[in-house]
Amino acid sequence: MEKKLFIKTWGCKMNEYDSSKIINLLKLFNNYTLTKYPEEADILLLNTCSIRDKAQEKVFHQLGRWKKLKKNNSKLIIGVGGCVASQEGYYIYNRANYVDIIFGPQTLHRLPKMIEYVLNTKEKIIDVSFPKLEKFDFYFTEKVNKPISYISIMEGCNKFCSFCVVPYTRGKEISRSCDSILCEIAKLADNGVREINLLGQNVNSYCSYRDDGSICKFSELLRLVSNIDGIGRIRFITSHPVDFTDDIIDVYRDIPKLASFLHLPLQSGSDKILKMMHRSYTVLEYKEIINKLRKVRPGIHVSSDFIVAFPGENKEDFQKTIDVISEIDFDMSFSFIYSPRPGTPAGSMNNTITNKEKKKRLYILQNRIEQQAMKFSRRMKGTIQSVLVEGISKKNPRRFFGRTENNRVVNFRGTLSMIGKFVDIEIIDVHHRSLNGNVVSINM
Ligand code: SAH
Ligand code: SF4
Ligand code: F3S
Repeated sequence: MEKKLFIKTWGCKMNEYDSSKIINLLKLFNNYTLTKYPEEADILLLNTCSIRDKAQEKVFHQLGRWKKLKKNNSKLIIGVGGCVASQEGYYIYNRANYVDIIFGPQTLHRLPKMIEYVLNTKEKIIDVSFPKLEKFDFYFTEKVNKPISYISIMEGCNKFCSFCVVPYTRGKEISRSCDSILCEIAKLADNGVREINLLGQNVNSYCSYRDDGSICKFSELLRLVSNIDGIGRIRFITSHPVDFTDDIIDVYRDIPKLASFLHLPLQSGSDKILKMMHRSYTVLEYKEIINKLRKVRPGIHVSSDFIVAFPGENKEDFQKTIDVISEIDFDMSFSFIYSPRPGTPAGSMNNTITNKEKKKRLYILQNRIEQQAMKFSRRMKGTIQSVLVEGISKKNPRRFFGRTENNRVVNFRGTLSMIGKFVDIEIIDVHHRSLNGNVVSINM
């Protein structure tokens, strides 16, 4: 009998990727189909993130709502996975007796068996171990109907930035086999995928052996992916400045399919703060990377993540961040107020910055970024942009939408046959969050 799965996901693209694989696995092995409504589900899964804020509270809040559903349906299975489960799984296991399954980011492929176990024994189960890369052997490529796809190429992180939980929740950095990645991308391309996004916490430290014994670094992987028929655009998130070596810059020089948009988190414009964050680079070193990159790719857009109000950040440190935002000319970026994470070195640091000041800094920073992003958008008016057409616009069914290389959504009049193709579009209007344009020609 067909059963229903409801899954809620928080966090990064990697977590979203993991959830999409959970959906595939549970469909194949346990006969679950996805539902949008928790009330009609036979299993409720929460794939959590603990990067910021009150992650644990958020989990219990959500579970509280699901507990009520279980009161009306004793057969309902509830499972919690992801990074909160990885760090605090045993606490959840002991505190919330209505939760049946606790799994971690590296054990989600064991879910089908865990579900069988719960159904057969009526007992709870927890597995938040780190069985290295095993999960990728269980992932398979489903037929997709979108021209853009994501693929995890590595797991974990060895950087141990002082503010970050990821090395503890996802474990040691480990790269997937290059040939399995290429195989998956080739299948996606056969299914109509045109843009591929390579995912990992630190993709540019990717390194694996090929089946013939040779070493494949990230730059090599990019070149190999660019050779796959059908793939017309390549992006990656996230990379770290320390591992942004010259061989990657060379790929930007040689491979036009690599999008002219780089997300390279700087975090702070103050060397003092970068040191306290254990980021292992200076602002000058970061600028050197961008200078080299702009030599081979003039006009490339660069975005970053910023943390404001890290413990010890004084007004001068903050001002340095604001100055560097203008100097490097960052485009759309993500910024957050520092959030102490349990178990991290910075988590126990004394922070004397008031809440009011924290919010003020975030506001100033976001405002600056917003202005710069708008400046870039305005400059695009009248230019011809290559846009990968994704589908029909949600707001206006007579219009279509796609994305430019520099990650802006463009709305335009088109035809169904354009979906999944690259079209050249002249930008005629610039709005706050999107652009309007007219199709000039269709390419691929
Ligand atoms: N691996 C990437 C980022 C991963 S986490 C890198 O090294 O750049 C995504 C972003 O969340 C980080 O870049 C950082 O800006 C933010 N972040 C991580 N931990 C945080 C914390 N404790 N408080 C606030 N923001 C945080
Ligand atoms: Fe976290 Fe730093 Fe690793 Fe990024 S590089 S995931 S910020 S520890
Ligand atoms: Fe969150 Fe874990 Fe991703 S903490 S950002 S879900 S790696």
